[in-house]
Amino acid sequence: MSKNIAVIGIQWGDEGKGKIVDFLSEKADVVVRFQGGNNAGHTVVVNGKTTKLHLIPSGILHEHCINIIGNGVVLSPSALLEEIIELEKHNIAPRGRLYISQNCPLILPYHITLDQTREKAKGSSAIGTTGRGIGPAYEDKVARRAIRAVDLFDENNFAEKLKTVLDYYNFILTQFYHADPVDYPKTFDETMRLAEELKPLIVNTTEKLHEFYRAQKKIMFEGAQGTMLDIDHGTYPFVTSSNTTAGGISTGAGFGPRYVEEIMGISKAYTTRVGAGPFPTELLGKDGDSLRQKGAEFGATTGRPRRCGWFDAPVVRYAAMLNSLTGLCITKLDVLDGMKTIKICTHYEYRGKKLEIPSTDLNTFAACKPIYEEWPGWDKPTAGLQDYDRLPQAAKNYLKRLEKLVGVPIQIISTGPARTDTVVLKQQF
Ligand code: GDP
Ligand code: IMO
Ligand code: MG
Repeated sequence: MSKNIAVIGIQWGDEGKGKIVDFLSEKADVVVRFQGGNNAGHTVVVNGKTTKLHLIPSGILHEHCINIIGNGVVLSPSALLEEIIELEKHNIAPRGRLYISQNCPLILPYHITLDQTREKAKGSSAIGTTGRGIGPAYEDKVARRAIRAVDLFDENNFAEKLKTVLDYYNFILTQFYHADPVDYPKTFDETMRLAEELKPLIVNTTEKLHEFYRAQKKIMFEGAQGTMLDIDHGTYPFVTSSNTTAGGISTGAGFGPRYVEEIMGISKAYTTRVGAGPFPTELLGKDGDSLRQKGAEFGATTGRPRRCGWFDAPVVRYAAMLNSLTGLCITKLDVLDGMKTIKICTHYEYRGKKLEIPSTDLNTFAACKPIYEEWPGWDKPTAGLQDYDRLPQAAKNYLKRLEKLVGVPIQIISTGPARTDTVVLKQQF
């Protein structure tokens, strides 16, 4: 049995990471977010009640779980406090078992303004960001001008840093985009107010994590977004601004790669994407609409309709390689219930050549044509099943085919949004 495990999205996000992390948290001691920010929307359904988490790790619904927001996360103080208060309203108490890294770069109002202003100015070439200020906040981190969580402890120092960075942002906003500036006193006062609430949660999370590691605690790393949105390996520039792949764990939590024993990749039984960028197996028109309706494919963060398409084996094969996956979890199998036939993209065709994995050159990738196999569907429902033996034979055949094409064993199958709608083939902890 492994001690430490990572759960990584291996498509374009929204694979069902939240559901699976919550499910596995029953046996975990610590759950860690290591990248992304409140662009994430992780949905957890327990006893008919739905919780959407954006920043807080999906272990929070289990009272025994410690939850850590690592240094690789860009942290919006207002979004975090809102999420804490929302959980408290539902009798879940994050304070006392939620720790935030002192090194987290903060997302402040000017990041959000710039993100949204820039997207608007781009018009039809917009990325389709979540508008949460993620890109600008990571830009500040790399440019070494970010205001970090630790800076909230020293009011004078914070005031000075904010002044410098806001001057810079307001110059860009007003002079380049001809947009309104962001107000200094308002930003200062509001952030200091939030700081009072958040300061007790801010610690050296790397040190804490290693204490847990030495104490043999079971640690789970929860990915946000998905492999194809990775800043280096994804469909650049239609990506997010962090490393969403397993490598991000080391840098985003201060936990060396040798310590993570299992890396589970989460994929839907089909494919979705929110925002712009190439998507070879996308279904347009009625077929896409029907998958969207059946799968309730609307963004957990922005409510935008998700683009839907068939399972794309080259994408998942690529993700298996990049993340050194040890296992697969296939979610939303039930959404395919009742389909007469189901297509699987096994490879791409590009200028007469057969490709095994996506090209990172956007133009090449956009020109790839999916090569499909068609598999028989099943008429008995899989929805809610927990026992592999009860799956219809055609569903088993479909899953076996995916496993073969990707070359990684399936360890969990999800058959519905609820915690209990889960088939376990290999215990993780
Ligand atoms: P995440 O971002 O990877 O955590 O995924 P999201 O929560 O954004 O999107 C996944 C959606 O699918 C959520 O609404 C989940 O409740 C839902 N979901 C997860 N697993 C299953 C499943 O096996 N079947 C069905 N029908 N819905 C699922
Ligand atoms: P979870 O964790 C799906 C997408 C946006 C956009 C691109 C850049 O729920 O899987 P950003 O705001 O990050 O600068 O947007 O990335 N995106 C996601 N798509 N799921 C997510 O998170 C996403 N987070 C960002 O739609 O295309
Ligand atoms: Mg999501």
